Amino acid sequence: MGTAEQQLSDEAQYCADTFNGAIASAAVSAAWEIGLLDELERAGRVGIDEFSAASRAHPDVVRAILVALSSRRIVTLGPARTAATTDVGFESAYRTKGFFYWLTRGCGELLTTLPAKVLEADRQGDFVRRDSRAISVACRNIARTFFDPPFRELLQGVDCATVADLGCGSSDRLIMLADQMPQIRGIGIDVAAGAITVSKEAIAEAGMEDRISLVQDDVLNLAPRDEYAAVDLVTCFLMGHDFWPRENAVTMLRRLRESFPNAKNLIIGDTCRSTGVDGPGHPMFTLGFETVHTVMDQYIPTLDEWSSVLEESGWRIADRRMIDLPAFSFIYRLTPA
Ligand SMILES: C[S@@+](CC[C@H](N)C(=O)[O-])C[C@H]1O[C@@H](n2cnc3c(N)ncnc32)[C@H](O)[C@@H]1O
Repeated sequence: MGTAEQQLSDEAQYCADTFNGAIASAAVSAAWEIGLLDELERAGRVGIDEFSAASRAHPDVVRAILVALSSRRIVTLGPARTAATTDVGFESAYRTKGFFYWLTRGCGELLTTLPAKVLEADRQGDFVRRDSRAISVACRNIARTFFDPPFRELLQGVDCATVADLGCGSSDRLIMLADQMPQIRGIGIDVAAGAITVSKEAIAEAGMEDRISLVQDDVLNLAPRDEYAAVDLVTCFLMGHDFWPRENAVTMLRRLRESFPNAKNLIIGDTCRSTGVDGPGHPMFTLGFETVHTVMDQYIPTLDEWSSVLEESGWRIADRRMIDLPAFSFIYRLTPA
C-alpha cells in the first residue's frame, strides 16, 4: 500500500506530526535564510526553477524545503511540484520565523547533542555551544516584531542623549533609536564575538559608525569606562535572565546604578519562566526557551520573581507593558528609586 492511501491511527498521526514538525522547523529557518520565505511573502508564489536559478540554489533541495513546509500547511505545492504558493499557515510562520531560526540555527547544535548534555560528567567546562551570530539575527527579528512596538510606546516622553544597550546582539535597537532621534548616541555592549560582528555590519550598513560604538564586554562584570558617565538611558532586551539567580540579579541591578551613574531610565524587556503550562499546552517558543536554558544551567525567573527582585534593586517601576508573544514576556521602564 502506498503512503498516500495509508490510514494512520490518531496516535500514529500525532507521532508523524511530531517528526514532520522537526523537519518543517528546520525548513522555516532555511527558507528564511535563503530568501525563499521573503519571496513567498512578496509574491505569494515561488517557481522552484526560477528561484533556484536566481539564487544559485540546488532545485531539489529548494523543493525538499518546500515539501517540508507543505507538511505543516505553510505552503502548497502543485501536483507537478514545480511551484509553491502560500497556504493557511504561512502568515503565522512568517511572523514567527525568528523563533524557528533561534531554535534550529542558533541552538541546533545544543539540541542535536542533547544526549551528551545530560550526564553530570559530560557537563564540564564549555559544554554548550550556540551560534551567537544566528541568535543575534533571530533576536533582531523577534525584537522588531514583538518587543519594539511596546518599547516605542514606553519611550514616549523619555528624554535621552546617550543610550547603552546591554547584550545588544545585532545593535538593531540602537540603530532604530539613532535613526529616529538625530541627537542620540549609542553604546552597544555584548560579550559574544558573533553578536559584535553582526552589529558592526549593521552599523556600517546604516552609516552610523560615528554615532554608535561597540564594547565587547561581560555585562555581569562590566569594566568601568569614561563614556558610561554620559549614558542617560540603559536598555536591556532578552538578556535580563542572564542576571539570575536571584542574589546575582539584585547585585547586578544595583551595580548598573554605579556603572551608569547618570542613567535616568532603565528599560528592560525579557521572557519569564512559564507558570501553569504543561503537556501539550505550551505556547510558541516557551518550550524551546525553557529547554535550552535548562540545558545551559541558566535560571529563568518567573514574572513574580522579577517583581520581587525589582523591589530590592535600587530601581522602581515607572511604567510597564506585558507581551503575549513570546508568552510570559514584559517590558519595564525603571527609574532610580
Ligand atoms: C537573546 S540575545 C538578545 C539580543 C538583543 N538584545 C536583542 O534584543 O535583539 C542576548 C544577547 O545577550 C548577549 N549576552 C548574554 N550574556 C551576556 C553578558 N553576560 N554580557 C554581555 N552580553 C551578554 C548575548 O551574546 C546575546 O547577543
